[in-house]
Amino acid sequence: MPENSVVSQQQVPAAVSPASAGQDGEPLLRVAGLTVRFGGVVAVDDLSFGIMPGTAVGLIGPNGAGKSTALKVIGGEVKPTSGAVLFDGVNLAGRPPHVAARHGLIRTFQLGGEFARLSVMENLLVAVPRLRGQSIWGALAGRRWWAAAQDAEVRRARDVLSRLDLTDKCDAYARDLSGGQRKLVEIGRALMARPKMLVLDEPMAGVNRSLARHIEEALKALRDEGLTLLLVEHELGSVERLCDRVIVMAEGRQIADGDMGQLRSREEVLRAYLGGG
Ligand SMILES: Nc1ncnc2c1ncn2[C@@H]1O[C@H](COP(=O)(O)OP(=O)(O)OP(=O)(O)O)[C@@H](O)[C@H]1O
Ligand SMILES: [Mg+2]
Repeated sequence: MPENSVVSQQQVPAAVSPASAGQDGEPLLRVAGLTVRFGGVVAVDDLSFGIMPGTAVGLIGPNGAGKSTALKVIGGEVKPTSGAVLFDGVNLAGRPPHVAARHGLIRTFQLGGEFARLSVMENLLVAVPRLRGQSIWGALAGRRWWAAAQDAEVRRARDVLSRLDLTDKCDAYARDLSGGQRKLVEIGRALMARPKMLVLDEPMAGVNRSLARHIEEALKALRDEGLTLLLVEHELGSVERLCDRVIVMAEGRQIADGDMGQLRSREEVLRAYLGGG
């Protein structure tokens, strides 16, 4: 069975396929009773929430709260000690990232060493799901694939680059990009996998202000097109502008859930994170 057979039904010809999966009234993602223990450390403690399709949800909390671990479990990188990760009706808990990806749940990843030696366009093309499992270098060397992909995937990659304002970097090596531009390429790579939902861990961290704003605008546009977003971010201004709803974690637990306005007035949130109270 081809790797992308499941997502293929969700494909639309546009650069992005914000498939409005999940039926009306049903969360696209639901985590239930998620717990992750590392030895004696309970990194995530009985976490439960749902995310409706087409919404952007922020996950915030102090350092060590368990946010990244929660995202890693959702993306399949870490197995939960217990609990369920229901995505579009399928329990993905404990399944590897490529299975989550096949269902349209895509987590962005920092560009690894080998990607620095590829051009931006190549970085996007090797992120197309059908190539997973093949060696990247084999895929890049496979002229037949390049030829076959000319019409669809190369055009789609150009669309993705254009919407991320990276068109002029198409042929640049990833290693020559700034940190912020690399973050945009990471988002571009995720989009090439035709996500129903994007999961991002601190997409604006360590990026200069203007590029951070650019990343925020790109994410906002994707959300407005119906892509579902879950992001961890410490920059609360961006979270407030981008997210319909925010979940606050502290010490592995969910301590609050609401919009930023509501959260700012809650004492336990202020105490745990927002620096007031
Ligand atoms: N692989 C691991 N092995 C052991 N402990 C871990 C592992 N990963 C995370 N932890 C611990 O789990 C807890 C939660 O870590 P996590 O990285 O999820 O926090 P976080 O909310 O993302 O923090 P930050 O805001 O600093 O990124 C911490 O106590 C951390 O030390
Ligand atoms: Mg983290």
